[in-house]
Amino acid sequence: MGAGRWGNPLLLLVALALAVRLGQFQGWSGFQQSMSWKNVNSTLNFFMETFNNNSNDSYLFRVDKLLRSQVQLTTGVEYLVSVKIGRTKCKRNITNNLSCPFQSKKKLQKSFICDFLVYTVPWINHYQLWNNSCLEA
Ligand SMILES: *[C@@H]1O[C@H](CO)[C@@H](O)[C@H](O)[C@H]1NC(C)=O
Ligand SMILES: *[C@@H]1O[C@H](CO)[C@@H](O)[C@H](O)[C@H]1NC(C)=O
Ligand SMILES: *[C@@H]1O[C@H](CO)[C@@H](O)[C@H](O)[C@H]1NC(C)=O
Ligand SMILES: *[C@@H]1O[C@H](CO)[C@@H](O)[C@H](O)[C@H]1NC(C)=O
Ligand SMILES: *[C@@H]1O[C@H](CO)[C@@H](O)[C@H](O)[C@H]1NC(C)=O
Ligand SMILES: *[C@@H]1O[C@H](CO)[C@@H](O)[C@H](O)[C@H]1NC(C)=O
Repeated sequence: MGAGRWGNPLLLLVALALAVRLGQFQGWSGFQQSMSWKNVNSTLNFFMETFNNNSNDSYLFRVDKLLRSQVQLTTGVEYLVSVKIGRTKCKRNITNNLSCPFQSKKKLQKSFICDFLVYTVPWINHYQLWNNSCLEA
């Protein structure tokens, strides 16, 4: 399996099972360091919502650490992001809770490093997950 390519977020879980090499999106030209925290944050929120929506884990996952984010202007704004996410103590039936603590019991701890590409048109609040691959960390 080479590069992860999932147009359909429903296939996200498949991505979790695949060992895709980290940094596969590295070396793209045309991407720059992202500067707007506000936009990166809403992109992260969109990604986590999609992730949790498509997850069958009992618990909610949330962002642990933003590893890298790059941006490219096209017809909209493309965000290329590497992020570490972790399992929280909150049940997944509640939507995004940014203050939910991470699991502290070793057996329940779980984290992924996810690389994803989101296409967004911020001024109309449009988000689309184009590429995504998560590797257990
Ligand atoms: C974005 O998220 C970071 C980390 O959670 C937070 O410190 C920062 O205040 C947020 N910025 C905006 C504009 O929401
Ligand atoms: C997640 O699911 C909720 C409820 O089904 C839905 O309203 C929301 O649009 C979904 N979010 C994403 C990003 O798919
Ligand atoms: C989702 O459920 C399937 C079987 O029901 C299981 O094989 C898979 O590991 C689960 N995925 C996650 C992320 O928990
Ligand atoms: C989530 O699940 C818990 C326990 O199963 C329940 O008490 C709570 O009301 C649920 N919350 C929502 C928002 O559905
Ligand atoms: C989010 O999680 C914190 C810590 O568990 C809890 O105190 C708070 O009530 C939660 N908020 C929501 C909206 O569920
Ligand atoms: C990401 O997805 C888009 C559209 O699905 C595709 O054209 C592109 O080649 C993909 N990029 C990578 C690095 O997989």
